[in-house]
Amino acid sequence: MESLSIKGGVPLRGEVTISGAKNAALPIMAATLLTAEPCVIRRVPNLSDVTFMGQILTSLGAKVKFDGATLTVQAAKIRGVGDYDLIRKMRGSICILGPLLGRLHRASVSLPGGCVIGPRPIDLHLKGLGRLGARITIQGGYVRARAPRLAGGEVFLGGRAGPTVLGTANVMMAAVLAKGVTLIESAACEPEVVDLAAFLNAMGARVVGAGSPTITITGVRELHGAEHEVIPDRIEAATFAIAAAATHGEVTLREARSDHMHAVLDKLREAGVAVERRGPALTVRRGNRLKPVDITTLPYAGFPTDAQAQMMVLMTLTPGISIITERIFESRFMHVSELARLGADIAIEGPSAIVKGGRPLSGAPIMASDLRASAALVIAGLVARGSTLVKRIYHLDRGYEKIDEKLKRLGARIERVEEP
Ligand code: EPZ
Repeated sequence: MESLSIKGGVPLRGEVTISGAKNAALPIMAATLLTAEPCVIRRVPNLSDVTFMGQILTSLGAKVKFDGATLTVQAAKIRGVGDYDLIRKMRGSICILGPLLGRLHRASVSLPGGCVIGPRPIDLHLKGLGRLGARITIQGGYVRARAPRLAGGEVFLGGRAGPTVLGTANVMMAAVLAKGVTLIESAACEPEVVDLAAFLNAMGARVVGAGSPTITITGVRELHGAEHEVIPDRIEAATFAIAAAATHGEVTLREARSDHMHAVLDKLREAGVAVERRGPALTVRRGNRLKPVDITTLPYAGFPTDAQAQMMVLMTLTPGISIITERIFESRFMHVSELARLGADIAIEGPSAIVKGGRPLSGAPIMASDLRASAALVIAGLVARGSTLVKRIYHLDRGYEKIDEKLKRLGARIERVEEP
């Protein structure tokens, strides 16, 4: 198993190109199941989650071909049951349920497995698909859905933590081929939902209002093939922006969409980090003195939960107290105990982490627990005195394309090593 060996203390400098967004690419790949015609998707990031989704589409009968960052999928003849173990392993694959139901009117998808960041129920997905006429049972570890006739209807998708991103995607992808009009209320507004809607409309769907809490879908008889370029990854961009600030560096993020990152950039500015837009690029530079800021994670356009851990590292470096409250995934503090190994002073009080910042970090062997926690541990290793060994980086490869090579080009002393 691989680890990352990092020698800290080098300011990151230079330019990095942001890859396509994992959380847009996955539902867009699932949406290719809605047509028998070929679809060409560009700027698809080279990630293990994307490879997994490709294998899942293949297990359903689709032809899948990767050519660098361009993916061609043709789902001419497909079946409604995918590979149990593959689907169970990757939570994001639940978003094949909607397109299979929309196209075949039946689907059997294994229930997603557990997740360290907190319980991840799919009750809202099932409620939404049920509102379109699907009969759903859970049997033998599978979600079994049947809908002899999918019909448009009103679907409210608000849950205890607000809207659901993949739930919105699933209902949208079932509704595009349903009879009549579907109205999704309390829909997720994430840029990835907007990107999926753009792809569906390129296939001939009629989706209006994506990006707002109310989405209207007028069902059509069939969809055709289409071409699409995935949006840049706002969470990868946020991760590099925070790494630049944490290491006292100056980094230009090429292809970053600052209009998708307002909450993160606002908090960075509040903390004293200089953020400048130069055409399609964004330059982030550490100002003189960092200031503590409080953060609460919220659905989009609020502060993203997927950037919470990375921002916590920056606050460990900042003299003073900052309070970080996690409102989306209640146990998303797995990185706290590992940051404590590096000398950080963080106390957990219910949904909040109280960070007493300003104490220098020193390197140690630490363990990644999930995707975004591992990104935070890498940033901490770039700052900490001496060497840090980040273990179990397979978590990182799920969502960051060649992050060690990108960091190396920015001057980081980082090596991928086999775990001893
Ligand atoms: C998406 O997950 C992202 N994953 C997550 O990114 C991201 O953290 C999350 O949205 C929130 O922004 C992908 O897009 C592949 P949700 P999703 O349904 O759709 C509760 C990363 O690091 N809920 O919006 O699965 C749920 O428990 C990953 O890239 C229900 O209660 O998240 C959570 O508290 C991690 N019932 C909240 O809603 C449901 O049926 C938001 O979850 C569904 C969700």
